[in-house]
Amino acid sequence: MIEALNPERHSIQAVKDLLAMAVGRPEQDYLEKLLNIFYTKEKRAFFVRLNQGKIIGIIGLDYSQAPYWWITHIAVHPDFRRKGIGRRMIDDAAKTLSLTSAGLETDQDAVDFYRACGFTAREVFSNWPGTHRYQCTRGQWPESVLEYYNNLEHSKKV
Ligand SMILES: CC(C)(COP(=O)(O)OP(=O)(O)OC[C@H]1O[C@@H](n2cnc3c(N)ncnc32)[C@H](O)[C@@H]1OP(=O)(O)O)[C@@H](O)C(=O)NCCC(=O)NCCS
Repeated sequence: MIEALNPERHSIQAVKDLLAMAVGRPEQDYLEKLLNIFYTKEKRAFFVRLNQGKIIGIIGLDYSQAPYWWITHIAVHPDFRRKGIGRRMIDDAAKTLSLTSAGLETDQDAVDFYRACGFTAREVFSNWPGTHRYQCTRGQWPESVLEYYNNLEHSKKV
């Protein structure tokens, strides 16, 4: 099961190491800023998944338009991939916060993971030539809510 990130109990370095795998710009100051925002702002959350006391997965989300929510970051430690942990973190986060329809934006590397988790992917404009970006959604989405999350700066980072 996941638990809410708590800097008093969890290794922030371990969280940053995982977060670095899920962002395009993994500099330390940027990771710190992100963690701060997600830890202190309302309707944002970071959950961690532990294995024998060590952090092996993280998921960051924005649920300011609950029950619609946006996955902003997700990463599983390389030694623990393809064991269902990523999928389970998405489902656990939704259950913990009573959220329904999930969405996110991602790239070519992870889009098939989201497809395997029941998301529908639609290609969207990519700022980086030669790369592909996808908006993935699961469940019903009012266009206005989709637009809201889509316009958030941090929603582009997954
Ligand atoms: C993407 C990521 C979170 C997936 O986590 P995971 O725990 O390995 O995924 P799961 O084991 O829960 O996989 C769920 C399903 O997705 C599939 N899947 C997982 N990763 C995949 C990939 N890279 N490509 C295609 N399918 C993938 C699995 O085979 C499984 O499908 P199945 O149930 O039909 O067998 C993990 O690979 C990761 O941390 N990657 C680096 C960070 C990253 O890219 N984050 C996302 C974008 S920022």
